[in-house]
Amino acid sequence: MADLVDNMFLCVIISVVIFYFIFRSSRFRRLRLPPGSLGLPFVGETLQLIAAYKTENPEPFIDERVNRFGSIFTTHVFGEPTVFSADPETNRFILQNEGKLFDCSYPGSISNLLGKHSLLLMKGSLHKRMHSLTVSFANSSIIKDHLLVDIDRLVRLNMDSWTDRVLLMEEAKKITFELTVKQLMSFDPGEWTESLRKEYVLVIEGFFTVPLRIFSATYRRAIQARTKVAEALSFIVRERRKESESGDRKSDMLGALLAEGGFSDDEIADFLVALLVAGYETTSTIMTLAVKFLTETPLALAQLKEEHEGIRARKKKEDGLEWSDYKSMPFTQCVVNETLRVANITSGVFRRAMTDIDIKGYTIPKGWRVFASFRAVHLDHDHFKDARTFNPWRWQEQSNSGGASSGNVFTPFGGGPRLCPGYELARVELSVFLHHLVTRFSWVPAEKDKVVFFPTTRTQKRYPIIVKPLNVEEEK
Ligand code: HEM
Ligand SMILES: *[C@@H]1O[C@H](CO)[C@@H](O)[C@H](O)[C@H]1NC(C)=O
Ligand SMILES: *[C@@H]1O[C@H](CO)[C@@H](O)[C@H](O)[C@H]1NC(C)=O
Ligand SMILES: *[C@@H]1O[C@H](CO)[C@@H](O)[C@H](O)[C@H]1NC(C)=O
Repeated sequence: MADLVDNMFLCVIISVVIFYFIFRSSRFRRLRLPPGSLGLPFVGETLQLIAAYKTENPEPFIDERVNRFGSIFTTHVFGEPTVFSADPETNRFILQNEGKLFDCSYPGSISNLLGKHSLLLMKGSLHKRMHSLTVSFANSSIIKDHLLVDIDRLVRLNMDSWTDRVLLMEEAKKITFELTVKQLMSFDPGEWTESLRKEYVLVIEGFFTVPLRIFSATYRRAIQARTKVAEALSFIVRERRKESESGDRKSDMLGALLAEGGFSDDEIADFLVALLVAGYETTSTIMTLAVKFLTETPLALAQLKEEHEGIRARKKKEDGLEWSDYKSMPFTQCVVNETLRVANITSGVFRRAMTDIDIKGYTIPKGWRVFASFRAVHLDHDHFKDARTFNPWRWQEQSNSGGASSGNVFTPFGGGPRLCPGYELARVELSVFLHHLVTRFSWVPAEKDKVVFFPTTRTQKRYPIIVKPLNVEEEK
């Protein structure tokens, strides 16, 4: 015990010293840093951050500091002093000035897993070119003319096998994975995609090991799995390159990358792996949480069902959903927005200051990490009335701003040059999923499940539900 106290004492001394150097050194005294506390040396406030995220309410870490210091504050997490912003204007400024005043910056453990040729890590003109290439493969006309048919078919195919007890999160993951593989390289689901997905799950687990545990078994396994995934994809890339050289071109993402030219097989494989990562966890989590929120809000579920039964009634049984159907789901779009807002999945984005930056009377020193917290804004009562309640109807008021006091506070997909290229695709996938779910099944939760936020936002038990087909004959 005495040891512990001694150690604590030592830590306090050291942090005071570090503080002294950081805050009092003439350079930082000249600059006006955002207020805050750097916590213990090395670990800073990382442990407090993780502890907060392990509870059912992850906000105390940010809430507490916003109350003490205001919506821009300094802390020290994941090995570096970091400026946090819970201010929508500042967040917007950070997003819009990507590549000019800020650039993206991920912890090393994450970059290794992503691979250095992933879009998330690219910078400058290469990023610009590849970003627009990615956008052109997920924009609304592509979804309308090509992807929607596959989304509709794959969702139905998966639901055909649902009986009794279903782990919703697992099903949602299977669906999103199959969709992405189809979109990227025109593969239909089969043994190959499923075994690739198994490896993939290991990669994803590695993403969320704390940087301090970079030597852990999970992380090593993730790196190995990543190599396997990349090898499997490289093989496909080589095959496809041969085909395209003999004139057989497919119009998918891989086809576009090959046509673009100038990339090696490994670079293309890296790029594809990262696209799989970007769409997989996020979209499947949002599908699961939408169902959870709706289950807990029966009035919203009833209204959603009515909307989709209306669409079904206008169609023949075997007809798939069309773009015009997607465009006539106003309430569903409210549910989608509200789910994105409340689900807290993108807590925010990390950036690094490329130069000293003056903002709101403070200075962010060159080279410092910045974290623009979307979650803190989305759950702030000043921006959304009764912000912590799931209320899809709020999007019907005040011309689609969710009742927000001003525009630009709702940024589930980020913004600026790095705006998520999958934003429309994710919305369509969720809408189609909800359509088939509510028109084909009724369900009840199989056990109590709760949402946890660390290492990722997810439901602890993968949200098991008991499903009952509404009409066995339908759509079979
Ligand atoms: C609900 C689902 C999704 C959410 C909430 C989401 C959210 C985000 C956010 C916030 C960013 C910005 C990251 C930053 O600024 O550093 C981002 C980037 C990105 N997202 Fe998504 N995303 C989703 C689905 C998808 C899907 C389905 C795809 C597949 C195409 C995708 C592909 C990407 C890519 C490639 C980037 C990197 C863009 C760049 O750095 O230029 N996302 N996403
Ligand atoms: C979507 O991308 C395609 C190219 O893939 C392009 O021809 C089309 O104009 C784009 N549509 C929109 C709405 O941006
Ligand atoms: C998101 O966070 C808020 C508060 O931090 C919490 O009340 C809410 O339940 C969270 N959302 C989910 C999906 O649990
Ligand atoms: C959902 O949010 C987006 C902003 O991301 C907004 O443009 C759209 O109008 C909203 N939809 C509804 C139905 O409120």
